[in-house]
This record gives sequence, C-alpha cells and structure tokens, in this order.
Amino acid sequence: SFAPLVDAHGRAIRYLRISVTDRCDLRCRYCMAEQMTFLPRAELLALEEIAIIAERFIARGVSKVRLTGGEPLVRRDVGELVDRLGGHVGRGLEELTLTTNGVRLAEHAERLYASGVRRVNVSLDSLDPATFRHITRHGDLTQVLRGVFAARDAGLRVKINTVALCGLNDRELPDLLAWAAAEGFDLSLIETMPLGSVDEDRTDRFLPLTAAFDVLADRFRLTRDAHRSGGPARYWLVDGGPTRLGLISPLTANFCDGCNRVRLTTEGKLYLCLGHDDQVDLKAALREGGVAGLDAAIDRGLGLKPARHRFDLAVPAVARHMSVTGG
Ligand code: GTP
Ligand code: 5AD
Ligand code: SF4
Repeated sequence: SFAPLVDAHGRAIRYLRISVTDRCDLRCRYCMAEQMTFLPRAELLALEEIAIIAERFIARGVSKVRLTGGEPLVRRDVGELVDRLGGHVGRGLEELTLTTNGVRLAEHAERLYASGVRRVNVSLDSLDPATFRHITRHGDLTQVLRGVFAARDAGLRVKINTVALCGLNDRELPDLLAWAAAEGFDLSLIETMPLGSVDEDRTDRFLPLTAAFDVLADRFRLTRDAHRSGGPARYWLVDGGPTRLGLISPLTANFCDGCNRVRLTTEGKLYLCLGHDDQVDLKAALREGGVAGLDAAIDRGLGLKPARHRFDLAVPAVARHMSVTGG
C-alpha cells in the first residue's frame, strides 16, 4: 500500500540500523573517549516508540533490522524489543540481528535465538588478553569469548568484526582469521572511521585494508565471493570456504553507490548517512502527527540522503560518535 523507500539517488532503502542506546560497558579507543557524555535519558525513545518506528519501516519495505549501540545489550528492555520485532521475521522482515561487544551475550544468546535472531556480529579486536584490554580499556577477553561460544551453542551464526589497528592488532590478523575459520565464524575487517573525538589520533592507527589483505593472502587462499550480507562488506572465501573474510573499507574502497541503509538513534532522530549530519526528528513527528506524521518525516528524510560520505582521517567528518548513530 506504500511506495517502497527510494532515495533521491535511486537507491532502495531496505536496511534499518537502530542504536538502542549510545551507552556501552567498554570504551574502545577508536570509538569512544575515556570520559564520555551520553545522551540525556529523558530524550530516549520508549521501547514502544522504537517498535512503532521499526514496524513502519518494515511496512514500507525494510527487510533487515539491526540493533546496535553503543552496546545494545546494556539497554534493560532490549529483550522485549527483540521479542516484538522478532514477530515480524518471515513476514516482511527477512533478518533481525544485532551488533554487540559480546560482554553480555552469554546471558542473552538463547533468548535472542528464541525471538527469531539467527545471526549476530560480535566486535572482537584481539585474541590476546592484554591487547584486548588495552583496546577496549575495560574488556575481559574471557568473558567475550564465553559470549561468542554461547551464541554459537544457541544456534546463532557469528561474524567477528575486527577494526584493523596499526601497531595494536595488525600482526595478529592472520591468526585471528585462522581462529575464526577453525571455530566456524566469518570475520570482517573494518577500517577505522573518523567519527567523534577520541583521546587518540586515529591517523596513527589507520591500517588500510588493502595492506591487511596482502598479508592475509600470503597465508590463505582468498577467492572473491559474490555473497552479500546486506551490509557494506565485500567478501572472500577463505581456503575455498565455507569461512568468509569480509572487508569494510570506507576509506580505501567506497561502497556508497550501493547504500541501502538509514539509522535511527536512541533519541529518535533518523540519520541518512554515517558521515553526515543530515537528519529528521522521527520522535517529534510521531508524537505530534502519529503514523501519518511519521511517514511524512521518513519521506522528508529520504530526500536528504547524501550520495556518499567524505571520510578523511585528517578532518573528522562529524562530531558525534559512532555509538549515537549505531555504526
Ligand atoms: P552484515 O549484516 O553482517 O553485513 O553487517 P553490517 O556490516 O551491515 O553491520 P555491522 O554492525 O557489523 O557493521 C560493521 C561495520 O560496518 C561497522 O563499523 C559499521 O559502522 C560499518 N558500516 C555499516 N554500514 C556502513 C555505512 O553505510 N557506511 C560506513 N562508512 N560504514 C558502515
Ligand atoms: N571506525 C570503525 N569502526 C568502528 N566501530 C566503532 N567505532 C568505529 C570507528 N570509529 C565498530 C565497532 C563495531 C562496529 C559496530 O563498529 O568495533 O564492530
Ligand atoms: Fe562499545 Fe562497540 Fe564502541 Fe567498543 S566499539 S566502545 S564495544 S560501542
């Protein structure tokens, strides 16, 4: 009954990323400063409002919803949201999934599966306990690994997300891929992006994935795979498969032509691009105009979606952190 969501550049929007909280129990150095100011709790969308907005997107053709943050599992009522949205899986929604730091995954894994989640992405930047602690500032590797294995035991497919960081995890990337392959996990490498100020210089840590790929190709047979997960990664099969290596290279291989996504923040703002400030206030639109107001605001938002990001490590593109817009 509604026209599918298409932006001014002809791209169909089928993927909604929802940051259910900008808070996190870790402080990864490329993501957050040690001292963070979080959004005021009074401004947050209620769970019911998140669900109504997500359901509106699903009715209008979104087939993939990802809960992110911050860390989605630190939001108290996240389980109820997953239950509610899980009811749409197979009825318009093809995939409901999460990106998590894994810290609380062991407690949630079985319920996620029961709600209809079949796959999770877990951020894990090192298998060395000291390096892991250093990068995350607070993380306990053992606890995250427990979460990863609990997810697998619950029947969830796991993809490991690793931000490639010069001088921190670059030398262990081949071992990380070997580990992932042995455990039955896919691995995606990510280039660090200039979002929000952190206490360190991201330029010093930037590792172009072109270089990481060359090192991996010395140890593994990597063959291009046409598989698409719906996100920005390009994939390679590792030693003939089934393990996949994904590369997310916003700085060295722009993927914006194929962009299919928009982002909802905890405060109910719809951001049209990770690298721009363009946004519309869906919370206000819903509260003032109901579902019709929401639809009009979504349409207005789509008209604002930029053609591409202009990330440049030397010039932070936007002041907000990735945790606000959910990656
Ligand atoms: P799959 O469903 O497995 O493809 O996941 P995904 O890559 O869509 O989501 P995930 O949360 O695992 O994101 C991995 C990385 O990709 C994060 O660092 C995101 O910020 C980044 N990413 C996702 N979408 C975009 C995008 O539109 N632009 C940019 N620059 N980065 C993105
Ligand atoms: N650049 C690249 N990736 C980032 N992430 C968080 N901040 C950044 C950044 N500045 C990653 C996390 C997680 C994913 C959602 O985004 O490690 O895997
Ligand atoms: Fe938390 Fe993820 Fe940011 Fe790390 S990258 S601080 S786990 S939101």
